Amino acid sequence: MPLRKRYLFVCVNRRPDNAPKGSCAARGSEEVHAALKAAVAARGLARLEARPCSSSCLDVCGAGPTVLVEPDHLLLGRVTTADVPAIVDALAGGEWPAHLVLSQAEIDAG
Ligand code: FES
Repeated sequence: MPLRKRYLFVCVNRRPDNAPKGSCAARGSEEVHAALKAAVAARGLARLEARPCSSSCLDVCGAGPTVLVEPDHLLLGRVTTADVPAIVDALAGGEWPAHLVLSQAEIDAG
């Protein structure tokens, strides 16, 4: 398989249900990862353009579910399955959904 232009690291870290910090998996990130994989494949982007991968904690738990997009070095937060079409549009050459792109302050806050 060739290297793709982009890799999307979807945090699927899961903490116990009573953990104060919560976790991306508890907020639905496993479903986001599966939906991203399916949508990228359906748009014909899987082979060359983008590879959604599962990741451990990206250390921005308060903004989860989080997705790190490389090499753009862009961190998306509060991602739901409803956002997947817009993310795939961005991968196909559109704009990143502004409401998902975390600010430096949000990243710093963790
Ligand atoms: S649990 Fe997902 S960023 Fe920490």
